[in-house]
Amino acid sequence: MKFKKQIFGFMDMLRFKKLVPNRREALANGPADPLPTEYRTNVLAHRLHPGRMEVELVDAVMVTPTIRKLTFRRTDADAFPFFRAGQYVSLQSPVGDSLVSRPYSIASSPREALENKLVLGVEDAGFFSGYLCRDAKPGDRFVMSEPSGEFHYETLRDKKHIVCIAGGSGITPFVSMAKSMAEGDEPYEMTLFYGARTAQQLAFRDELDALSAKGLKVVYVLSDETCDGCEHGFVSAALMEKYVDIRESSFFLCGPQAMYDFVLKELAPYDLPRKAVRKDAGSCGNREVSDPRTFRLTVHVRDKVCEISAQENETLLTAMERAGIDAPNKCRAGGCGYCHSKWVRGEYVVADGRDGRREADRKFGFIHPCVTYPASDIELIVPVGE
Ligand code: FES
Repeated sequence: MKFKKQIFGFMDMLRFKKLVPNRREALANGPADPLPTEYRTNVLAHRLHPGRMEVELVDAVMVTPTIRKLTFRRTDADAFPFFRAGQYVSLQSPVGDSLVSRPYSIASSPREALENKLVLGVEDAGFFSGYLCRDAKPGDRFVMSEPSGEFHYETLRDKKHIVCIAGGSGITPFVSMAKSMAEGDEPYEMTLFYGARTAQQLAFRDELDALSAKGLKVVYVLSDETCDGCEHGFVSAALMEKYVDIRESSFFLCGPQAMYDFVLKELAPYDLPRKAVRKDAGSCGNREVSDPRTFRLTVHVRDKVCEISAQENETLLTAMERAGIDAPNKCRAGGCGYCHSKWVRGEYVVADGRDGRREADRKFGFIHPCVTYPASDIELIVPVGE
């Protein structure tokens, strides 16, 4: 054994000694062609992570009295990148003097993305969503972020059976997840509880009914009326017990805060591990302040300095957008870190439960303007949008 080691050690020394002359010889004998300007890995990386995309609205139809289904195609490439079902994109457009963007979960499947089709379901609530529901029309152009987010199935973390609970327009990521499962791209089994007040408010019902023939188990739950084939009431633990084994499932929730509060209370007695329940984080909106004050917000973007006004009850990101500043953002929920900006001076308040900053960011004075409200005049350095 000792003898062999010595031989190999000697061989290694010899190879090491010849390393430089061998390399010189290889370089001298190599072709004189210039190096390629594009590498396959970089081309693939750009196709999967294009950053911002230019898109056109090709179809818009109301699927409930308040939810509009919007279909987009890419105009700067011939396909959308493949993504994980459950992810979102951020849509941006100038509206009046503002440059507004909002995140929306994708309702189409990753395979449809490769056919240059991406569908969103938007509820007529708020400034930009209201604009998309009422004023946007086929032919309109937008800027869209690449698909992002952690709200998707993870084989190592999640059980084989997933229970998805949706309320209102929160159905969209689950339409994508159900399609992806039916197309054979995801390994889970899925039961979907979709809550609404009336049957008329159930969006994407035709698609969900078609998917139930391909393995999706869907339970419609109506609170304000009874109808054939639907449950009546709310998505309670007793109702879930009727259809699924709660302890042998991973839960995905997407809907209004009241739905989260109710379902989490129902699940509390089961003492499920933390990883068993995932909530889609909605955008951080205005906070309750009676008689909000107006502060001065100084924004540095590269070598430009802008002085704008910011309301005490609105996030710093909203104030910048209102003034037409192209401040980078994606999730608007404090989680992705994409809006990460340097605080220079002034007081601020971070929305409750939304502080997703790393410890180092807190220590060195970085904030997420999407979840931060001004509490005095304030000054920031924001990164340049792509
Ligand atoms: S936009 Fe994601 S953390 Fe601010």
